[in-house]
Amino acid sequence: MVHYSISSTELDNFPGSGLNTLMSKKHREIVQKQFTKTAEAFTEFAVRDTPEVLKEKVDFAKPQSADVALDIACGPGAFALAIAANVHASWGVDLTEEMLRRARGLQAERQILNAGFVRGEAEQLPFRDGSIDLVSCQCSFHHLPKPALVLAEMVRVAKPEGRMLIIDPLAPESDAKFELYNRIEVLRDPSHALTVRLTEFLRMFDEAGVDILRQSLRRRQRSFNNWMLRAGHARGTKRYLEARKLMEGSVAGDKAGFSPQLQGDDIQIVHNEGMFLLTRRALMA
Ligand SMILES: C[S@@+](CC[C@H](N)C(=O)[O-])C[C@H]1O[C@@H](n2cnc3c(N)ncnc32)[C@H](O)[C@@H]1O
Repeated sequence: MVHYSISSTELDNFPGSGLNTLMSKKHREIVQKQFTKTAEAFTEFAVRDTPEVLKEKVDFAKPQSADVALDIACGPGAFALAIAANVHASWGVDLTEEMLRRARGLQAERQILNAGFVRGEAEQLPFRDGSIDLVSCQCSFHHLPKPALVLAEMVRVAKPEGRMLIIDPLAPESDAKFELYNRIEVLRDPSHALTVRLTEFLRMFDEAGVDILRQSLRRRQRSFNNWMLRAGHARGTKRYLEARKLMEGSVAGDKAGFSPQLQGDDIQIVHNEGMFLLTRRALMA
């Protein structure tokens, strides 16, 4: 029997008084269907972040031992569980029950006592105003049709001196590449809303009244085959072949901004990932 040491003082509406919703029913269903189908791949055989990359992300957030952390759209809990050793308490929230089930399973396996996972929407977080020291969202912003609304929610639940961490791929600045980039992403995963550009993130931060404490741009190399597998498409399936055709067609001139390179029966692709540690803008006296 595992005895958890997390308390629920930060939680609002707990235990689950029904899912509040600011999402469209259609998009919510697409997300849940996609991530219920891919939860096993995500957790077991097509994992994205190596332990080294996860450590880099945790270190980037500069976690403090007294921090209460919250990772939104946490999936199977990779980030929330990785950061738990560095903070007082680590929460994860996600829409998809199957992802949460996997997160809790990994938590029990690793005997991590100061983490907790709850169901909720990023657009209307089941957490109290000003209750969290570090609110993160990694590799999920591109699934959110209303990213500015989610950023506002992150700011709402953060303490006045709290930090927000966003890690997400950045779309190409060129219009033609931007369009093809997002077309390939949606073909691969229908729950993909939009990957935005660096310039759009900077505009969103400005409008949300947050300043950047730290930022870093990383080139994350990935195997196309593994990336497709993580979205539920094995080699030779219809979606795989359609996405592969577009990706191969983009090689000459890097038309979609994935920097693709054919390698045996695979393609090496790159996601340009932005990491931003944010805080509320200090108001001038
Ligand atoms: C690509 S996965 C990323 C999971 C995790 N952040 C990671 O990096 O491994 C996207 C996750 O976002 C969740 N999600 C998508 N839209 C959401 C929303 N509006 N509110 C809460 N979770 C959402 C999905 O259920 C899924 O688990």
